[in-house]
Amino acid sequence: VANSLQDIISHAKEYGFVFPSSEIYDGLQAVYDYGQNGVELKNNLKAAWWKAMTQLHDNIVGIDAAIFMHPLTWKASGHVDGFNDPMIDNKDSKKRYRADQLLEGKAEELEKAGETEKAKVLLAEMGRLLGAEDLAGVRDLIISEGIKCPISGTSNWTDVRQFNLMFSTQVGSVAEESSLIYLRPETAQGIFVNFLNVQKTGRMKVPFGIAQIGKAFRNEIVARQFTFRMREFEQMEMQFFVRPGTEMEWYKAWKETRLKFHKAVGLPTERLKYHDHEKLAHYANAAVDIEYEFPFGFREIEGIHSRTDFDLRNHQELSKKKQQYFDADLDENGKPYGNYIPYVVETSVGADRLFLATFCEAFTKETVGDGENEKERVYLKLHPALAPIKAAVLPLVKKDGLAEKAEAIANSLKSSFRTVYDEGGAIGKRYTRQDLIGTPFCIAVDYQTMEDETVTIRHRDSMEQERVHISELKEKIGYAVSM
Ligand code: GAP
Repeated sequence: VANSLQDIISHAKEYGFVFPSSEIYDGLQAVYDYGQNGVELKNNLKAAWWKAMTQLHDNIVGIDAAIFMHPLTWKASGHVDGFNDPMIDNKDSKKRYRADQLLEGKAEELEKAGETEKAKVLLAEMGRLLGAEDLAGVRDLIISEGIKCPISGTSNWTDVRQFNLMFSTQVGSVAEESSLIYLRPETAQGIFVNFLNVQKTGRMKVPFGIAQIGKAFRNEIVARQFTFRMREFEQMEMQFFVRPGTEMEWYKAWKETRLKFHKAVGLPTERLKYHDHEKLAHYANAAVDIEYEFPFGFREIEGIHSRTDFDLRNHQELSKKKQQYFDADLDENGKPYGNYIPYVVETSVGADRLFLATFCEAFTKETVGDGENEKERVYLKLHPALAPIKAAVLPLVKKDGLAEKAEAIANSLKSSFRTVYDEGGAIGKRYTRQDLIGTPFCIAVDYQTMEDETVTIRHRDSMEQERVHISELKEKIGYAVSM
C-alpha cells in the first residue's frame, strides 16, 4: 500500500528530518529547513553523488562557484528572456495557477479515465502553443477544456502572462550605485563560465566533466507537494564537454549511468522510469527526465539534457572571450580536430528531490506479531550508507558496569562512522527510536558482554540479532555502511 504524503511529512517533522522554514511565524511557503537527522541524510546523498561523479570518473572534477554571478550570465544563458512560466489567475478566487500545470492536470485526469489518446493530443497542443508563445491560445485551450479553479469551481480566468522565475536583488550600498543581480536559478552557469579555467589549469582533455553541488533559487508560482517544488533548493549538476557530433552517444551513456545511480541509492526499478520531453527547454536539443513514483505520482527527479554549444557560444558572444578548445586528437583523415566550442551533455538532479524520493521509499509501515501481539511497526528502510546514524550502542541496564562498557564501545566506533549511545528507557523502546530514524544497527550490551566481550547486533529490517565479538564491530558495520 502506498504511503500518503501526509504521513511522510508528519514523520519527517516529528523525527527531525524536515521542518517548515521559520515555523514560529507560521512558515514561509515553499521553503524548508533540514533538521538534525535530515541534514545527515542529505549530506550522505550529496556525498554519494560526489563520489559517483568525481571519485569514480578520472575525467570529472568538481568546483564550487558563487551563487551571485555577473548579470550578463543570465542574458547569455537565456534566463532573462526565456525562463518564464505561463500563469493565469482566477478572477473569483484570486488564486494564481501555472497554465501548463492546469492543462497537465487535465491530461492526467483524462489518462486516469482511460482516455489516453485525448490526453496525448491535449499535451501536444499545449506544447505547440507554448512553443509558439501563443498565450491567448493557451487561455482558449484552458477554457475549451472546461478547466475550473479548484478553489472557486469557476472558469472565470484572466489572460495568460509570462512570469520570470528568477529572484533579483541589488549589489552596492546606495540605490543609485547599485545594480540588479540575480540569485542563480541553476548551478550550471557557474560551470560554463569556468570551463576554460578548469580545462587549462587541470589540463583536461575533451571529453571531460565538471561537477558541482549548490543552492539554486526559483520564484515558483505554484509551490506544493512538500519539498518537491521549493523556492530555495539544491542542485547537483555535471556538465560533460564533448566533441560536437559525439553528443548523442554521451547523452545515451549518461542516461543509463544516472539511472543506475538511483537504483544504487535504493530506489527500486519499478518506481523509476524515463520520460522523454515533448517540450524542450530553450537550451536543449534532446532531453529526458528520470522520474520516480512519489505518493502523488511519477515526477521528475533528474534531467539529462543535450545542451549543444548553446551556453558556451552565447557566453563567448556576450563576454567577447573565446570559449574554444584545441583538440589535438586526429580525425579519420589523420588531421587534428583542431579548435571548436565543445558540446555539452548535462546531468542535473535536485538534492532535495532525491532526498524526498529516498525518504518516501524508506518510509515503511508493517504489521508484526500475530494474535494479541499484533502491532504496527514504522521504520525507515534507508540504505545503510544513507542512514543519519549508523549504529546505536544500548546497555541492557544501566547498572553493574554495563553502561560504562557500552559507552566505551560507542566511543571506540565514533571515529569510523556515526555512532550514538542511548541508555534511556526500556530496550524495546530504544530499538523503536532508532528504527524511526533508520539506524541500521543496534548494538546491545548485556551481562554476557562482561564475561566474553561479545555483543548482539540487531538488524533494523529483519529485527534479527546476531552475537559478535566487540573487536569485529568496526569492520563489520563499517563495511555495511559504505557505498
Ligand atoms: N541546469 C538544468 C536545470 O536546472 P531543471 O530540469 O530545471 O534543469 C534540474 O532542474 C533538477 O533540479 C530537477 O530535476 C529537480 O530535481 C531540481 N529542481 C528544479 N526545480 C526545483 C524546485 N523548485 N524545487 C526542488 N528541486 C528543483
